[in-house]
This record gives sequence, C-alpha cells and structure tokens, in this order.
Amino acid sequence: MICIISATNRQQALTPQVAQHYQNQLHEAGIPSQILDLQGLPPDFAYSALYQNAGKNPAFNQFQEVIDRHEKFIFVVPEYNGSFPGVLKTFIDGLRYPGSFQDKKAALVGLSSGMQGGALALSHLSDILAYLGTDVLSLRLKLYRIEAHFAEGKLTLPLFNDLLSQQIARFQKF
Ligand SMILES: Cc1cc2nc3c(=O)[nH]c(=O)nc-3n(C[C@H](O)[C@H](O)[C@H](O)COP(=O)(O)O)c2cc1C
Repeated sequence: MICIISATNRQQALTPQVAQHYQNQLHEAGIPSQILDLQGLPPDFAYSALYQNAGKNPAFNQFQEVIDRHEKFIFVVPEYNGSFPGVLKTFIDGLRYPGSFQDKKAALVGLSSGMQGGALALSHLSDILAYLGTDVLSLRLKLYRIEAHFAEGKLTLPLFNDLLSQQIARFQKF
C-alpha cells in the first residue's frame, strides 16, 4: 500500500486534485494507495502536537499512525515561494523522530503555476528526506504551469501523463 501525501493545507488548492489523479492512475495499474491530505491536519497542530505536546493531539496522532503503517510514499508538493509549503515541514517536525521515514522510500511530484514545476521545492525536500533516512526515486515529476495543464481532474499534457506512468512503473520496482 502506497501513501500519497498531499502536501498543503491551502483551501482550493490544486494539489489534492493532482493527488487524486495520481491515485486513480495507481488504481488503474492495480496498486492500492491511500491519500494523506494535509488539509485535514488539526488547525492548531503547530502548537498542540509539537515538541512538549508530542503525542497529545489525538487527531494529529492519527496522521502519525498513517505514516507508521506505510513504507512507500508519494509526495505531491506545490511550489510556494521557491520551495515546498511550510506546513509540510511543520508536519514532518511533528512526526516521531527517528523512525517515521527511516529506511522507507519516496517518489516526488512537484507542481507550480510557474515554469519550475517545483524543481527547487523537490530538491529541498530531498535533502530533508535524506537526513531522515528515506531513499528517493531519481525520476521526479515537475508539473509546471499546472493551471494550463490540468482540467476536469486530469493532466492534459501527454508528456506529464507519460512521465507519471514511468514514475509509477519505476516506483513499483524501487
Ligand atoms: C503561498 C504561495 C506561494 C506560491 N509561490 C509560488 C512560487 O514560488 N512559484 C510558482 O510557480 N508558483 C507559486 N505559487 C502558486 C502555486 O504553485 C499554485 O497555486 C499551484 O496551483 C500549486 O499550489 P496549490 O496546490 O496551492 O494550488 C504559490 C502559491 C501560494 C499559495
């Protein structure tokens, strides 16, 4: 079972829709998955679930349990201010260390309004995952100009769909 992390808590974000599309493609390939949507984090988790309050927020603990149940993750990551969203870092900072991502595997998908497709965001996240002991698949998806290339729940640029299929195939063997 693969866990797809939708890495923003912004309302109206495209990221959960891209995560859903990814899950549909995994389903077509016969691969079971679960979406972990950071929109569902408790709004006050930065205060009620971190540091001295670790383990004390039952709603956040459910997120920890989902992470603990999985060995493979697909991070769907929007580009915010030339990096990944701060809420993703805060989420990771709230997870048990070490152990939450140690010896696990990840594949990365970036999306952006601009031309980078989250390239820097994925680089920054890769550094953090390396620190946490996670192996990251070399093939990263960079979905640039996402508003122009995503409609009715699907990626409309054939190149993106080709790369997504390749990423699924390689992540299955990874
Ligand atoms: C706080 C914030 C910062 C953003 N910074 C960038 C950026 O640096 N580069 C870019 O191409 N798009 C940027 N965007 C646009 C997002 O990449 C765009 O909204 C895209 O759809 C993915 O984010 P979403 O899932 O929140 O919709 C930013 C959006 C927000 C909300």
